[in-house]
Amino acid sequence: MVETIQWIDGAVVMIDQTRLPLEEKYVTCRSYQDVATAIRDMTIRGAPAIGVAAAMGVALGVLHASETDLDARTLDTQMEEICATLAATRPTAVNLFWAIDRMKRVYASVAGQPIGEIRRRLVEEALLVREEDIAICRAIGRNGAVLVPDRKTVLTHCNAGALATAGYGTALGVIRAAVEAGKQIDVFADETRPFLQGARLTVWELQQDGIPTTLITDNMAGHFLKSGRIGCVVVGADRIAANGDVANKVGTYSVAVLAKENGVPFFVAAPISTLDLSLASGGAIPIEQRAAEEVTHVFGHRIAPEGTVVENPAFDVTPARYVAAIITEEGVARAPYEESLKKLVS
Ligand code: MRU
Repeated sequence: MVETIQWIDGAVVMIDQTRLPLEEKYVTCRSYQDVATAIRDMTIRGAPAIGVAAAMGVALGVLHASETDLDARTLDTQMEEICATLAATRPTAVNLFWAIDRMKRVYASVAGQPIGEIRRRLVEEALLVREEDIAICRAIGRNGAVLVPDRKTVLTHCNAGALATAGYGTALGVIRAAVEAGKQIDVFADETRPFLQGARLTVWELQQDGIPTTLITDNMAGHFLKSGRIGCVVVGADRIAANGDVANKVGTYSVAVLAKENGVPFFVAAPISTLDLSLASGGAIPIEQRAAEEVTHVFGHRIAPEGTVVENPAFDVTPARYVAAIITEEGVARAPYEESLKKLVS
C-alpha cells in the first residue's frame, strides 16, 4: 500500500497528491513552514492525514528551532508560532486541531527538561500519531465490514482512503476489510469536483488493490442510487458534531439525501479524533472556501469565461437524520447520536 506520509532522517516525506495519478512524486518537508504549505496547497489532504502531518510539523519545528531560541521562554514563543502557523492552514478538519493540541500537551509535559529530551518526546509522539492512525483505520474497517451488503456495489465520495490517512483508510478501510472478509463487492467512485479526489485518488488507490472500481461523475450518483445496484454508501468525515451532523467533502450532502430517498444506507466512517463534541450541531462547523481557479480551471486549463463569479466551499454538512450509522474504531454509533457518540468516547 502507498506510503502517504513518513518521517525520514529528520524530515517529513509525503506523496504529492496534487500530481497523482499522473506522477508518483514525493515531497520532502524540512521545516514546519514546508509542512504548513503542503497542507494548505493539498499536497497532503484528508482529515486524518492532515492531523499526522500537523503532528510531524510541530516536531519538525521544535527539532529545527535555532540555537538562539533554546532558552525556555523563547522556545515557548517559538512553539506557539509553530502551532499557530499549522493551525491556520485549513479550518474544517478537526483532526488538525486535535493533533496540534496533543503535541502541545506533550510539550507541556516535558517543560523544563533538556532540549534533547523535549525534541525526542515530540518526534516520538508524532510517530505514535502516525502508527495509531493506521491501527485505528484497521479497527474502523473491521467494525464497518459487517455492515456492507455482499454482492452489491458500494458508492463513495471523495477519497477517504490510505492517501487520506496514514494508511488503509476510513471509508476505503471499510471497503478493504469487507473484501478481505470475502465479500464480493465493487465500488462506484464519485469523481468529486472540483479537486477530483475521487477520479484521481480513489480510483488509483483501489486499482492498486485490485478492487473493481467504476468512476462516475458526481451528478450520476442519483441515477445509480435509484437503480437498486448500490448496496450502501460509505464516506469519510472532516468533523462530526455532537448531534451526528457530518462535515465532509462538498457533494456528500446531496449523496446522503439521494441515498435516503432511495432506501440505501448512508454510512460515515471516521476516527474518534474526527468527533467535535464541543459543537452542538453542524451549523457551527467552519467551512473552508477555496480559490475560484479550482472551479474555473481543470489542470490549469480554463473552462469558464474570464470574470466568472465562483463559489467554492470545500465541504458541506450532512444532517444526522440522513446518516444510518457512524463507524469508528470504538464501535458503531446510531441515532440518537447525542447519546451514542458520547458513549463511544467515554
Ligand atoms: O479537501 P480534502 O481532500 O482534504 O477533503 C477530504 C475529505 O473530505 C475526506 O472525505 C475526509 O477528510 C475524510 S478522509 C479519511
